[in-house]
Amino acid sequence: MRQKIVAGNWKMNNDLKESLKLISEVANMVTDEVNNDAVIIVAVPFTNIYALDQWKSGSEVHDKVKLAAQNCSWEESGAYTGEVSARMLKSIGADYVILGHSERRQYFAETNAQLAKKVDLALTHELIPIFCIGETLSEREKGIHFEVIKGQLKEGLFHLIKSVFRTVVIAYEPVWAIGTGLTATPEQAQEVHAYIRQLIAEGYDEETAESMSILYGGSANPSNASALFSQTDIDGGLIGGASLKSRDFTDIIKTFNA
Ligand code: 13P
Repeated sequence: MRQKIVAGNWKMNNDLKESLKLISEVANMVTDEVNNDAVIIVAVPFTNIYALDQWKSGSEVHDKVKLAAQNCSWEESGAYTGEVSARMLKSIGADYVILGHSERRQYFAETNAQLAKKVDLALTHELIPIFCIGETLSEREKGIHFEVIKGQLKEGLFHLIKSVFRTVVIAYEPVWAIGTGLTATPEQAQEVHAYIRQLIAEGYDEETAESMSILYGGSANPSNASALFSQTDIDGGLIGGASLKSRDFTDIIKTFNA
């Protein structure tokens, strides 16, 4: 069985106090209402990871809720003012790191080649990459979305040897669906997820393809999560806006309740 995952990407939201409030609300609701074995991840600003890890260590959700960073440097250490390394993130309690989010690709001009280096460093320091791929609206309108996704996957991840590749989480986030309220239909999302799995089968093998968790992201919310997550090749979600509301985020996690 592939691991089910619901990850919240808080993006650049929540100061320390707000972060502690939100995580404790989520923790309470998860403890009371969630009865499934989905991994819950919150990807929070760098500044809040340490405090949330400390808070979590005394809480019931210690093992259930994992922390992620939203980016890391492609360098190990050194004179890179303003950067944060994978090793630093691991040392303060992060278990995962989102890499290649479309906002990083778009606003910070991150390339697949840079992302491949980030992936390597994250894995070296035992941070699991949540590697984001997805096409823009114009790429979809031109009908080149499959090509775009293939390039992102091949250049960003396919250099990994199989045993390492298998530990990565992939998130398909069509850029046109992020923060727009325009969700991919379950069928559109399923079509791309199946394609991603097919590429993995071709690049590695069928068993590897079947073992990988592939998340959907883009305007996912409590109303559409169940239709999306019930698709054969969708193993959970990477949730933006709705992860900032404890009720909505918990309701999305509860989609996997029996
Ligand atoms: P929204 O859920 O706000 O559309 O954001 C999705 C996203 O970018 C998650 O990484």
